[in-house]
Amino acid sequence: MKAKITVNKKFTIGEIDRRIYGSFIEHVGRAVYEGIYEPDHPTADDQGFRGDVMELVKKLNVPIVRYPGGNFVSVYNWEDGIGDKSKRPRRMELAWGALESNQVGIDEFQEWAKRANSEVMMAVNLGTRGMDDARNCVEYCNSKADSYYANLRRANGFEEPFGFKVWCLGNEMDGSWQLGRKTAEEYGRLAAETAKVMKRVDNTIELVACGCTDYSRIGDWEYTILDHTYPYVDYVSLHTYYANKENNSQRFLARTEEMNDYINGVVAYCDALKAKKKSTKTINLSYDEWNVVCRRQPQDAAERDKDKWTEARHQLEDVYNFEDALVVGCMLMTLQNHSDRVKMACIAQLVNVIAPIMTEKGGKVWKQTTFYPFYYGSNYGNGATLRTMIETDTYDVEGYRKDIPYLVSSVIYNAEAGELVIYAVNRSLDEDMELELDLEGFASYELFEHIELYNDDLKAINDKDTERVAPVNVPIGDKVVLKKHSWNMLRFTVNA
Ligand code: AHR
Repeated sequence: MKAKITVNKKFTIGEIDRRIYGSFIEHVGRAVYEGIYEPDHPTADDQGFRGDVMELVKKLNVPIVRYPGGNFVSVYNWEDGIGDKSKRPRRMELAWGALESNQVGIDEFQEWAKRANSEVMMAVNLGTRGMDDARNCVEYCNSKADSYYANLRRANGFEEPFGFKVWCLGNEMDGSWQLGRKTAEEYGRLAAETAKVMKRVDNTIELVACGCTDYSRIGDWEYTILDHTYPYVDYVSLHTYYANKENNSQRFLARTEEMNDYINGVVAYCDALKAKKKSTKTINLSYDEWNVVCRRQPQDAAERDKDKWTEARHQLEDVYNFEDALVVGCMLMTLQNHSDRVKMACIAQLVNVIAPIMTEKGGKVWKQTTFYPFYYGSNYGNGATLRTMIETDTYDVEGYRKDIPYLVSSVIYNAEAGELVIYAVNRSLDEDMELELDLEGFASYELFEHIELYNDDLKAINDKDTERVAPVNVPIGDKVVLKKHSWNMLRFTVNA
């Protein structure tokens, strides 16, 4: 099979905001305890953070990490996680049915994030709590005033404010599973009023309103909440998890076509409200939960609840296979190709819970298959995304979609580094693809690196002892060939 990508140096979509390579740590399962934090682990640092995990997080180069949830935040009291650790309450954690020791909270997480070279994207509880707690939390984290919560932070040993810039106004407030769920009208009013008080405390913060959590339901929710919040918020959120439920890989690989439509749909609502309000401000998108999921949901309550109300339960520990990595690669390309409007995104999550990094208690850390497309995206996908004209064969999936392109790609021009990076997935399950490139507007270009992620077995996994899915360097020849069902990164030196 043959395919062709044409780009022109001058035809850019937008400059990539590095925050699209963000991630997410929620107090669920073993993400925090036995994930980023395990004081008894041989690699633990002076604060109890696992050094082996930190090393991999740094490799992933995540500029922003959403915290503390997720569903967790909708029942969380942020004050439980500050000050003297020995006095912190142990709570029944209602979102996930666990016991929360509160040994990690805002005080510790801001330090972990600093050590990981990341910013914190902080979420406030608009489920069981509201405006008052949200503004107090901003004061605790960000204020320099001689005021109660800022002084409480100082008393807890932090003279300087944490300076969290991005704040989420709740989490998935439309979802039936969300404790404190709201109607669009209720949420829109609450989010607008909460945004106002939070920005009174610190007018430099950026706020994310909850979009609805399912592409099939966007519409009334976006319209109503944006109608209420437009003047006060800066982003609207999107969340997506794809699963190969039908065990149809060709269909699974095509799911990012929906992600593309979802982004375009939410952009359309943002811009409709902009027009309605005659506003000069543009609301952008924060795709602050995205990933694939492959877990088997426990069907009976006994299995689901067997370790209820215990700490660090093994929850959502999905084991990713090779085709999951391909879909993650395609999802990341979709985000890059919307760099004009998607300014933040978080792969959900980072450690142990639907995560690229896995740990065993007291033992090893390892990389899941999905680690690699994210690693190469985050480390090399910097600069401006170029508009692509793609010529490729297409396929149909009966009962789903027609004309699905075999080739998925994003092209990023890093003028400063004199480099062009092409990410590409060949969605064909049985044919290699010869790729032709027409890179207009560059005086010259030369391919110097071709990284490929491939396994003959779409179901191959990595575990703590064996890495079956790992990138390889493809020798540079006369032709560029993308193997059947492979993920690729091509790096070129370019002269403008
Ligand atoms: O990431 C796991 C959960 O998925 C989050 O807590 C929630 O926001 C989403 O439904």
